[in-house]
Formats: sequence, C-alpha cells, structure tokens
Amino acid sequence: MSKVLIVKGHFLYTRTAEKFTVHKDSFLVAVDGQVEGIYPVLPERFKEKHVQDYGNRLIIPGFVDLHLHAAQFLQCGIGMTKQLLDWLEDYTFDLEKEFRDEDFAKSAYSCFARKLLASGTLRACVFASSSTTGTELLFEILKNTGIGAYVGKVNMDRNAPACITETTEDSLKGTIYLIEKYQNERLVKPIITPRFAPTCSDELLKGLGDIALRYNVPVQSHLSENIDEVQWVQRLFTSAEHYSDVYFKNNLFGQTKTLMAHAIYLSEDEKILALENGPVLVHCPDSNLNVRSGIMPVREYLNRGIKVGLGSDIAGGHKIGLNEAMVRAVQMSKLINLDNDELAPLTLAEVFYMGTKAGGSFFERTGSFEKGYMFDALVVEDEPMVAEKYSVEDRLEKFIYTGDDRNILARYVEGVRLEQ
Ligand code: GUN
Ligand code: FE
Repeated sequence: MSKVLIVKGHFLYTRTAEKFTVHKDSFLVAVDGQVEGIYPVLPERFKEKHVQDYGNRLIIPGFVDLHLHAAQFLQCGIGMTKQLLDWLEDYTFDLEKEFRDEDFAKSAYSCFARKLLASGTLRACVFASSSTTGTELLFEILKNTGIGAYVGKVNMDRNAPACITETTEDSLKGTIYLIEKYQNERLVKPIITPRFAPTCSDELLKGLGDIALRYNVPVQSHLSENIDEVQWVQRLFTSAEHYSDVYFKNNLFGQTKTLMAHAIYLSEDEKILALENGPVLVHCPDSNLNVRSGIMPVREYLNRGIKVGLGSDIAGGHKIGLNEAMVRAVQMSKLINLDNDELAPLTLAEVFYMGTKAGGSFFERTGSFEKGYMFDALVVEDEPMVAEKYSVEDRLEKFIYTGDDRNILARYVEGVRLEQ
C-alpha cells in the first residue's frame, strides 16, 4: 500500500534559478515520499485522507549543504583572524586529532548532527576526520537523524601532523572499508575525500581515483581556495598542468560525481575543464571571507554554464545552515558588481536555487517540489505581524536574511517528519 502525505500551506521553490514558483494556500500530495502534485483544491480521490494543515506558514525545500566539516563544528567562530594555511596548522588539525577518541567523536558528532538538522540542512556532503573509526561513528549518528548525507573519511598521508596523517596503505584501506560497509545505505552514503592535493601523495591520489572508478563512488575535495595554497600545489606537483589537473589525471575530477569546494583562482584552462568534465563547484562565501581566501566569480561561472552549489564550509564558515551562505553569496556578488557592472549581482532566487535544487541534483531528485522530487521540506513560521503585512516572497527573503532554527516548525525528508 502506498503511503500518502498531504500537506497544506504556502509553497515556494525554484524550478529554475530565474524565479520562485509560488503556490499560495495549496495542497501538496506526496506518495511514498515523492511529490505527486500541488493543487489549489484537493482532488476528489484524496478527499478522505488526513491533511496536515500548516495554515499561513511557508513550506520550502530543505537546504542542501554541499561542503562542510563535521569534525570542525566545535571550532566555529574560532581562529577567524588567520589565513587558511595557518588556520589549519594552528587550530583545525589540533581539533581533528581528537576524533581518534571514540567518546569524543560520539559527543562532538552528536552535537553537530543535532545542530545540522535544526538548521534546516536536510542533505549534506560532509568531511569527517582521517580516523576510520571516528568516521564510522559519524555515519551511524547521521543515519539516526533521518537526513540524507554523503560522508567522507579524510585522506591525508603527508604535510600535516603525524597524529592526523596515515600511511598511504591505511588511508586507502580505511576508505575501502567504509565504502563496502555503507555503499548500499539509502540515505547516508560514502564519498571519497582527499583533503586537498597538498596533503596527499601521488600514490594516494591515484589509489583513491582507482577506488572511485571501481566502486563508482563520488568524490569531494578542496580546489584553488587561497593563493599561497595554489602556489604550494604548483611546487608539489611539477608535472601537473594546473591544480585541477592534479585531481583530473587521477580520476578525481568528474570521472565520477565530484564536488570541488571554493575554486576561486581557476585559470582559463581549468574553467574549460570544469565545464566539460562537470564537477560541481561549491561556493562557500563565509569561509572565503573568514580565512581571507577571496571571492568566487560565481556570475562568470554561471554564464559559462559551470554548475555551482553552496556550502557553509563549517568551520571556515562560522554558522551552520545555509541562511548565512545565501546572504553572503548575494553580498559578495555585489562587491564584484561594484568593480564590474557587467557581472550582475546574484538574486535571492539564484542563491536559493543553488542551496536547494542545484545542490539537490548531487543527490538526484531533491531540492524542488516538482512532480517526482522527494518531499524534503522545511515548514517556516515567522512573526504574526510580519506574516500579516508582507507577501510570501518577502517573508521568505526575511527568513533567509534574519531567520534561524527557531523559525523552523517542521522538517521532512522523503515525506517523513523528522524528530529533533
Ligand atoms: N583546505 C584543506 N583543508 C581545509 C579545511 O579543513 N577547510 C578549508 N576551508 N580548506 C581546506
Ligand atoms: Fe572545507
């Protein structure tokens, strides 16, 4: 017997990046977790069914965060005067080593998972730490929340403290162990996660690319985030044509589904490679400001047809959830526009699309309320006086700019209401 869910309220989502699609005072019908349709009047065949009526509240797709570090959650908002490479050395590596301790990992990851769910992120692509047992705990904890995720054990075999690097062999072995254990999970799945080129030997990168192809598993990493980092990569990989080529020639750049976070300083050849090979580039604007990395030229990438999603990059980014990332993406695009008025600022619909449907395409059908999409949704409640005075579009903008978990009344993944 199929399971029918009927939800009533004001639905807002982005079929395309150009504009919001709005269904005021409507009924959404989901069958077995998938959207069947949105109707102004409930069709006769559903008349006997229970309706979950959210009244004057907004119902929007759940947020999809394409890049964040679970093992850095405790560090949010700390060390924010440093630049990337010093911040990693002075703060991040020191915290990540703690995840070898199971009790620490359990507590810290449970706290992360609670806050992630509360924030409205219902699908996430997550870096754990280099600890295989710690990463296994993160899989289990995220499974218990009911959200969807890709989770990666972080691969590193050089250029970081010994307490968080592994031998090449152990790093590959741990990766295979987690893939074999979790590859058939429905909601929380493995992703191959070389931290970034400088902490991976050629041998490790090649081994990871082989695994990606052998198991057909996606890949996530960092790319071209900071100028010192880009120069370091040039010194380390003298035979590579550019930073992207380090990943590309090892089958880690679009040969299977791929996410590359930041991608700020790409050369013309790299932009062409990104377009042709199809990794999703993940814009993490808060992180890029906090550790003084730079500004991704998002409008230029979108004009070229390169796929761009959004990430909080916790803990380079300081706030969990995507509200802040959407706002900052708009704000940073205005800074670019001040220097070059041919590059129009991003609109709210565009950043919302990046944080829902564009990001959702990495998980297949989520991030929209079109027929056939999974019903992954947030029910948003705002101040009664605001709700009375403003249009539903204005109310959504206000939620994105000023709202947080306190405004989220309910969360659904694949038609199931999640407990907090
Ligand atoms: N590059 C390599 N590791 C990291 C990390 O943990 N965070 C960010 N923002 N960039 C990185
Ligand atoms: Fe990151």
